[in-house]
Amino acid sequence: MIKRVFVSHQMPGARIHELAELCDLNVWMGPGLLPAETLREELSTCHGLLCMLTDRLDKSLIAGMAKLEFVSSMSVGFDHIDVQALSERGIPLGNTPGVLVETTADAAFSLLLAAARRISEADRFVREGHWRSENAWSPEFFTGKDVSGATLGIIGLGAIGQAVARRAAGFGMKVLAWSRREKNIAGVEQVGLDELLLRSDFVSVHTALTEATRNLLNADRIATMKPGAVLVNTARGGIVDELALSEALRSGALYAAGIDVFEQEPVPADNPLLTLPNVVLAPHIASATTLTRARMADLAVDNLIAALKGELMPNCVNPEVY
Ligand code: GLV
Ligand code: GLV
Repeated sequence: MIKRVFVSHQMPGARIHELAELCDLNVWMGPGLLPAETLREELSTCHGLLCMLTDRLDKSLIAGMAKLEFVSSMSVGFDHIDVQALSERGIPLGNTPGVLVETTADAAFSLLLAAARRISEADRFVREGHWRSENAWSPEFFTGKDVSGATLGIIGLGAIGQAVARRAAGFGMKVLAWSRREKNIAGVEQVGLDELLLRSDFVSVHTALTEATRNLLNADRIATMKPGAVLVNTARGGIVDELALSEALRSGALYAAGIDVFEQEPVPADNPLLTLPNVVLAPHIASATTLTRARMADLAVDNLIAALKGELMPNCVNPEVY
């Protein structure tokens, strides 16, 4: 029997054309994001789904997918999916780790540098015509914070956290990291979270969003960060309390932040971070290079192709279903 597969967004990459030959393929052509209601309708008749991190697959949606046999998400994170609900029905979930590691680490480091050196603020200043002779260069004009020689604290020492540590070494930074597991990475001192927050001039978040890490950087923990520290988040919004962070940035307790991910995306206009000059903002683009997105798309498709052929997905989040 030919299986029906639904793809929730047009995709880059080459492998999608191979997928089309193996199944009855339906691709959401937009415009914009797939509405949850359309997803619900499509999924009532589909055997396979290729989704994005913008598609929320909760328990009730999964319960309504009577025919569903396999799911692949074009993302490394899978906090948008109720994995337990899939596992209970024996449905494998694929993700796309590995290929986005270096690209995401580059983005984290660029946010770190931009926040430390006030690059977004400086860009706005020049662009908006404020750079005039009465408002010009002086010895303390746009002074920022040194990255070289500073201490970086990495929260989550997985592949991306380790890639950020390698970049930090090139900047002569002292690198601390917090991870549930002992990792023994050369040049990285593993410490407790409290110690990391106390000692780090820069903190970069690279852990997955789970029940254990939701609100990990809450108001109490943010209050223990080193005065004048910079926070970078390219992981997930729910890990950091945005209101507490914005208050710490407004009061000067923290120096700056570089934020790519938000509690709610797209970010609502009243998010307090949007009004702060010392926050560098990005719209969840840490893995967004042309090459990496094509590689992620191909990996996501490979997971589906394997499932269609009755093989194990090459990158499966819940292999216990097999
Ligand atoms: C991006 O946030 C991803 O999970 O791939
Ligand atoms: C992912 O979140 C990682 O720690 O590599």
